[in-house]
Amino acid sequence: MARINKLVDHEDYISYLAMIDQLEKKRYFCKHGFEHGLNVARITYAYILEQGVMVISKEAVYAAAFLHDIGRWVEYQTGEDHAEASARLALPLLKACEFNSEEIDLILRGIREHRQHSAENLSLLGKALVLADDWARNCRNCLAQDQCYKFNHAMRQIMY
Ligand SMILES: [Fe+2]
Ligand SMILES: [Fe+2]
Repeated sequence: MARINKLVDHEDYISYLAMIDQLEKKRYFCKHGFEHGLNVARITYAYILEQGVMVISKEAVYAAAFLHDIGRWVEYQTGEDHAEASARLALPLLKACEFNSEEIDLILRGIREHRQHSAENLSLLGKALVLADDWARNCRNCLAQDQCYKFNHAMRQIMY
């Protein structure tokens, strides 16, 4: 996982997380720091393994998960959809960490798709990120249930 270790040590990745951390200081709902990326990475990878069709490297799956929300600070500041902003910010990071063009295409597509809950024709990685992004949350014990647009009965049933 050398490329993932390089990614999470990259100064730009660290600075994006620091900006998100700052902007989410008073956020009542789920936050989007390193822990969220790691949880989504592990669940995304497990889900893809369960499908039995590993068409993408483990490092690419983890990269997509760690990068899927790095544009959150852009959304907070400009209103731009963070899936698009994250994909844009991810590109130079992926190049710097030596992901190849085929991997980069799959990762960026997955990041762009990660909020498209009801879309058809999602890539496997995109669908896995959509699911993992919800499954990574501890909605069952969350104090913000009443005010969270994401919370519903299904989200309370965290074991699928
Ligand atoms: Fe997101
Ligand atoms: Fe997320």
